[in-house]
Amino acid sequence: MRKVVCPGSFDPVTNGHLDIVGRAAALFDEVTIVVAINQSKAGLFSVEERLELLAEVTHHWANVRLDSFEGLLVDYCRDRGIPAIVKGLRAVSDFDYELQMAQMNRQLAGVETLFVPTSATYSYLSSSLLKEVAAHGGDVAGLVPDVVALRLRERLAGG
Ligand code: PNS
Repeated sequence: MRKVVCPGSFDPVTNGHLDIVGRAAALFDEVTIVVAINQSKAGLFSVEERLELLAEVTHHWANVRLDSFEGLLVDYCRDRGIPAIVKGLRAVSDFDYELQMAQMNRQLAGVETLFVPTSATYSYLSSSLLKEVAAHGGDVAGLVPDVVALRLRERLAGG
């Protein structure tokens, strides 16, 4: 069985993430979306909330699983026999750091990284930019699933 992970913060999941996950799900037998737990970085949503939102927007893919992890991604992969990571690349600006991480992960544990170019529609989209736009009342329709847009509005209103 060909298994990969799609790692990230997913705070919150965007249509850009889902573009990559969907394309990975078409290529591999099992895709595990793993939410990285970063104790030193408080998110807008808790890890549990991020997983709940991910569950709502990925349930139609039968071969997509969800999980979270703390520590090194390669340890997560090695412990579960997952040989590769799938990452979206939006622009050249993503490339430097992504290449460093890919090479480090291969050096540490032989885990390969496969880069998928983000669809042009979402090449400018990031969770941080999305949150900034939403925080200032901007329209995020089309950038995130409706359920995420709703939760964003609630959270930014204090809910
Ligand atoms: O969505 P993000 O925040 O860009 O995702 C980055 C993430 C979580 C994929 C990356 O920071 C990561 O892999 N963190 C886990 C810790 C780790 O393995 N660090 C060494 C990377 S070489």
